[in-house]
Amino acid sequence: MSDHKVYYNYIGGEWVPARSGKTYENRNPADTRDVIGIFPDSGAEDIADAVAAAKEAYNAWRLVPAPKRGELLYRASQILQERKEQYANDMTREMGKVLAETRGDVQEAIDMGYFMAGEGRRLYGVTTPSELPNKFQMSVRQPLGVCGLITPWNFPMAIPSWKIFPALICGNTVVIKPAEDTPLSTYNFVQALVDAGVPKGVVNIVSGHGPTAGEPLVQHPDVKVISFTGSTEVGRHVSTLCAQQGKHVSLEMGGKNPMIIMDDADLDLVLAGAVWGAFGTTGQRCTATSRIIAHRSIVDELTSRIQAEAKTIQVGNGLLDGMQMGPSINEGQLSVVEKYVKIGREEGAELVLGGERLTDGDLSHGFFHQPTIFGNVKRNMRIAQEEIFGPVVSIIPVDSLEEAIDVANDVPYGLSSSIYTRNVNNAFIAMRDLYTGIVYVNAPTIGAEIHLPFGGTKGTGNGKREGGTQVLDTYSEWKSLYVDYSGGLQRAQIDNAE
Ligand code: UN1
Repeated sequence: MSDHKVYYNYIGGEWVPARSGKTYENRNPADTRDVIGIFPDSGAEDIADAVAAAKEAYNAWRLVPAPKRGELLYRASQILQERKEQYANDMTREMGKVLAETRGDVQEAIDMGYFMAGEGRRLYGVTTPSELPNKFQMSVRQPLGVCGLITPWNFPMAIPSWKIFPALICGNTVVIKPAEDTPLSTYNFVQALVDAGVPKGVVNIVSGHGPTAGEPLVQHPDVKVISFTGSTEVGRHVSTLCAQQGKHVSLEMGGKNPMIIMDDADLDLVLAGAVWGAFGTTGQRCTATSRIIAHRSIVDELTSRIQAEAKTIQVGNGLLDGMQMGPSINEGQLSVVEKYVKIGREEGAELVLGGERLTDGDLSHGFFHQPTIFGNVKRNMRIAQEEIFGPVVSIIPVDSLEEAIDVANDVPYGLSSSIYTRNVNNAFIAMRDLYTGIVYVNAPTIGAEIHLPFGGTKGTGNGKREGGTQVLDTYSEWKSLYVDYSGGLQRAQIDNAE
């Protein structure tokens, strides 16, 4: 018998194993000898239990006044704040990114909780004057019911919080299926909600794999809305399944984010931004900088400076002091990185730095890869078009702002983009013409805050946004109310006459 900690699903206020009794191991990607815990490998029957509990709990939860729901979110955020260090440690152990970054991940959840707690006292609707006398009209947000949430491993607490908090504040109940690689961080998040006093059945978590647990959640007829963050391929499948049932769906998918460097850019600033944007989170962000589109007059200087800087990145176990970049999440993801390095070489791009898996000493127990830079990349090469989700960046030389924007937009995705320039006119042109959901000026493509809408154009999404108050549109429906009070007026006139 192993003495590893065993985790259960949380369904209807109880911690329960998968009905089948099946489990799987969650291991540390920096050192696969380290078992984080044993998690339920759930199936359709567990999803059905969770949805039934959420459906039942919805009857009462939707009637709890929104400011009271907000107080619960506020308490959960306070608890997350108290446990930030512990939860960041757990997250580095199961996901691999360095502690400074996992602290940021927990912080995003805390911020989202405080933000949505405040929404409990707003949830603004609209009133407009009527065309008719003695008529009043307004519209209010209504919850939908049970929300099915499917979340990725790269932000295993922040992204669940972007979905659970707004769903709850609107009066919905939820079933979440976290990524199989990082369930613990999502369990920790749910534990904070439980300790804050969330009523039974309002929040349910079921761990397992996409086809066996995720798909039954998407297919369940009592689930009214699906919010999915993950690959474009799986997102399209989720979208098709939802369309068949006419189900609401919010999708957040891939990216191929460009950073434009003009010839008047402050190169010191660029250096910090490019290295952080490309290699932060081991490149495993949908917002990661994966293309550096640089003006030809500075591209050589820039390439050698980025190469020198990226060479110094300390790669290793994120729990150790001084580490700056952790591993890929699993063997499969690492082999995608290796595949694209090979493709880049075959396409004739110039390998400026890295290109190899790291296996020295303790690194041999994890999924580590060198920070990798390709120079002289052509806009239509596969490494410049397809999402890699790893520590690989392509430098593409261009001759003008116009060409830079054209190259930037010429990919199937549109999440984030950035431009470095000191020319205010060029900055405004880029802000207008870059066709992405997020544009940064003199900052890298990563680091979005939760108070503004987050999401992308084209293959990145389906027009929805997370973050901001705009996220509330995913978790509510508008109801317009018309009240004709002319009957009362007549009554008053009659009364006066008498
Ligand atoms: C993601 O990679 O899915 O803007 C989210 C950022 C982070 C969130 C990234 N705040 O980079």
